[in-house]
Amino acid sequence: MLTQLQTEQLRIDYLQPLENTKELKNSFGHDIKEGLNQSQKKIPSKYFYDDYGSQLFEQICELPEYYPTQTEADILRKYAEEIAKITGICELVELGSGSSTKTRLLLDAYNQKNQVFKYMPIDVSAGILRESAIQLKQDYSSLQIQGLVGTYDQALTQLESTSWPVRMIFFLGSSIGNFSEIDYEKFLTKISQVLENGDYFLLGIDLQKPKSILEAAYNDSQGVTAAFNLNILTHLNHKFDGNFDINCFNHQAIYNEKTQQIEMYLISQKPQEITLKSLEFKVKLKEGEKILTEISRKFDVEKTQHHLASTQLNPVKVFTDKNNWFALILCQASK
Ligand code: TRP
Repeated sequence: MLTQLQTEQLRIDYLQPLENTKELKNSFGHDIKEGLNQSQKKIPSKYFYDDYGSQLFEQICELPEYYPTQTEADILRKYAEEIAKITGICELVELGSGSSTKTRLLLDAYNQKNQVFKYMPIDVSAGILRESAIQLKQDYSSLQIQGLVGTYDQALTQLESTSWPVRMIFFLGSSIGNFSEIDYEKFLTKISQVLENGDYFLLGIDLQKPKSILEAAYNDSQGVTAAFNLNILTHLNHKFDGNFDINCFNHQAIYNEKTQQIEMYLISQKPQEITLKSLEFKVKLKEGEKILTEISRKFDVEKTQHHLASTQLNPVKVFTDKNNWFALILCQASK
């Protein structure tokens, strides 16, 4: 249980729905219909994350083949103090905080002098956000927590200017690799707009490496990633009264060397017609037809640094592991 004082230092706010018509239409499944009507059928990856999906994703992060989580944690363990020294005391804002497990490595570094510091976790899942915020408040007594429930877009348009001298936004887990190139550029521009001169941005990116290592990370031997991928169909069944039969689909993840991205598919095992009743939508699938559910782009450090710099996010330092599998780039906004 938290004391009265602790409760005053912990707040969870809900971000406002965006008023643009695209978001509104998507909340009624417009994006599903649009994706499944294309010649390369797609399901937007945000539908992975219902409660069970979020749980499976936590399991993916523990898999021996899924090296990004551990590698990024190793980098943080080694360099968090250096990062804290460079930025000094600041307001820490995390996009897609989830269970905030890796975040603790950063918080430990900022916690050392027992000075008050502030953490703003932002996540779409209110449940996981609240739980981990309460846990963090118990473990870090001098921490002020203000959680925000909402999407990255909502957060980046509604984040108020900070009363702290400096702010650092961080985005871990190479989640930026799940954006298309266009959305990646839009996202960085938005980050750059939100930050004030002198503020920091810490970005985790998964790096290009041999195909066999990459493909193993997304085709684990225990089948957790397959279950995670198939769960997107179960989620759609619940949400839109659908009839996807997960036994009639197979998981596949391939590394496309030309575009340097992992592509995750669900492959229809027979000719079938899918109905999503509450959307009044039907679609036919051929035997062997693939639905794209996720991309995970893999990066080159120099190119990414260059790109960040051209968005007025100046790389201050790059932290990486001994194999050069993953990198954290610390940038400072200079306008
Ligand atoms: N950001 C993670 C990545 O691209 C997300 C992820 C890991 C993921 N494994 C996955 C997404 C499997 C979908 C399916 O590496």
